[in-house]
Amino acid sequence: MGPRVSPRPAWRSLFSFLVVVNIYLAALAHAYAQLSDTALRNVPSGDDALNPHTGSLLSPILIPRVPGTPGSIAVQHHIVDFFARELPLWRLEWQNSTSRTPATGTTEIPFSNLIFTRDPPWTKGSGDVGRLALVAHYDSLYKPEGFIGASDSAAPCAILMQAARGIDAALTKKWEAMAESEDVGLGLDDDEKGIQILFLDGEEAWVTWSNTDSLYGARYVYL
Ligand SMILES: *[C@@H]1O[C@H](CO)[C@@H](O)[C@H](O)[C@H]1NC(C)=O
Repeated sequence: MGPRVSPRPAWRSLFSFLVVVNIYLAALAHAYAQLSDTALRNVPSGDDALNPHTGSLLSPILIPRVPGTPGSIAVQHHIVDFFARELPLWRLEWQNSTSRTPATGTTEIPFSNLIFTRDPPWTKGSGDVGRLALVAHYDSLYKPEGFIGASDSAAPCAILMQAARGIDAALTKKWEAMAESEDVGLGLDDDEKGIQILFLDGEEAWVTWSNTDSLYGARYVYL
């Protein structure tokens, strides 16, 4: 005969539940700190770069940019040139693929994801670094013709560009200060994480959204 298992009193279950909830909340509190009014007031505004008509970051994206068309290539250049010009410390990786779509028969359509990464300098791109990833897709719908997808997702792309520019100098400063610490490289500190910004191609369906007609470029992300 094995040992007798006494039924677990309800209060103990409740207690375990509360402990779990507490740990969970503690983890959340650690991951997401509440921003003070002062911090919010200091968040950089979008300024003119995000103006839809004249903004240097947003307005060049507000064109039809169906994968494989000149509009798509123009937007790729806009993003690549911006990083090359203003954020040279971010490493660019292209992830190119081709697919057929139900709208274009046997033609292989090209899709290109653009991935920009900035890691703490002491990791030397070794890959064994955690990263915060920020993602938007830059392609626009095939139909209706002329569709520019302002919120889906031209504006998010421009906002990610603006965000990269907004944090670049602060990252340099923070990592320079950290590089002098002896703990650096041990992975003990959350601030050792790198940042990756992904501009994905071919998110949209060409005819009707399904598992095969969608996420052409976007499904090929490998990190
Ligand atoms: C991916 O495609 C783009 C054009 O769409 C091209 O400029 C780039 O060189 C290609 N990259 C690779 C690694 O094949």
